[in-house]
Amino acid sequence: WFIESLQSMKRISLEELVDGVGGVCFVPSVMERWRELQEFQARPDDTLIATFPKAGTSWAIEMVDVVRRGGDISGCLQIPSMMRAPFLELNPPPPFPSGQLHNQPSPRLIKTHLPFHLLPPSFVDQNCKMVYVARNAKDTAVSYFHFHRMNKKLPEPGDWNQFFDSFLTGQVAWGSWFDHVTGWWKEKNNHRILYLFFEDIKENPAREIAKLSNFLSKKLDREAVDRIIEHTSFKNMKQNPMTNFSLLPANIFDQSVSPFMRKGEVGDWKNMFTVAQNERFEKEYRQLMSDRGPSFRMEL
Ligand code: A3P
Repeated sequence: WFIESLQSMKRISLEELVDGVGGVCFVPSVMERWRELQEFQARPDDTLIATFPKAGTSWAIEMVDVVRRGGDISGCLQIPSMMRAPFLELNPPPPFPSGQLHNQPSPRLIKTHLPFHLLPPSFVDQNCKMVYVARNAKDTAVSYFHFHRMNKKLPEPGDWNQFFDSFLTGQVAWGSWFDHVTGWWKEKNNHRILYLFFEDIKENPAREIAKLSNFLSKKLDREAVDRIIEHTSFKNMKQNPMTNFSLLPANIFDQSVSPFMRKGEVGDWKNMFTVAQNERFEKEYRQLMSDRGPSFRMEL
């Protein structure tokens, strides 16, 4: 039924994105259930994984899930990632059958792309743990472009030039990357938020897994950490049907156009950005990112 509910979503153009709440764009299916979304009841032991799209959400889900299981990967090998960490914005309200968030036993793992200020208030009220992963804007833009090409439920992206403009101006689903990463950054010390970077995980997964184990209060021995690194490597996640989204039909994710597990690199933007685009990006970046915000590495 989850796949069926996705299939019923109509493809739109970037111009048809709903200028949803406070200028943040959303696909219409998110806006249609906005009220239920805001009334979502978080539980104190929920863990929320929040990202701007393409920041390595699925990678983080896999890491957090295995850390919470104390390094035991067996449970993760049975159930697709999208069922282990349901997507909050597309979580259908009752009376949909059990299996999604409302009927899922605690402790739940929940995925969202919402900016901090648009989260259902219960996450803050319940003082939930939240893991935020940020990825540098240039790689995120390129990854999001290829994702639009293959994800038939996102708007038609047009060509790279058009998409580049839309990304810079925040006219993409879930809005402005700049507002997203800085909005979560400002709140990170006010709530139980662990703020991680894609580039750091790529550089030293063991170090970032240690942060997760500390944050989630799950002790891991060296062997467990090694197992998690292996299980969540790009190569393994690309082959694993539970993490590579190959279970979704081609009229949702057409992986012949671009695989979900595409490259997983830092600095791939260099294969896509023209010199002029890079100059424009750098200029706007300096204006839009405050000195007090997070600082990103565009290459390792
Ligand atoms: P690319 O398109 O650059 O390859 P999300 O899960 O937020 O949709 O992000 C998807 C991006 O994260 C894709 O980036 C994907 O390849 C990358 N990714 C997913 N798992 C990864 C892993 N284990 N190692 C490195 N990158 C990974």
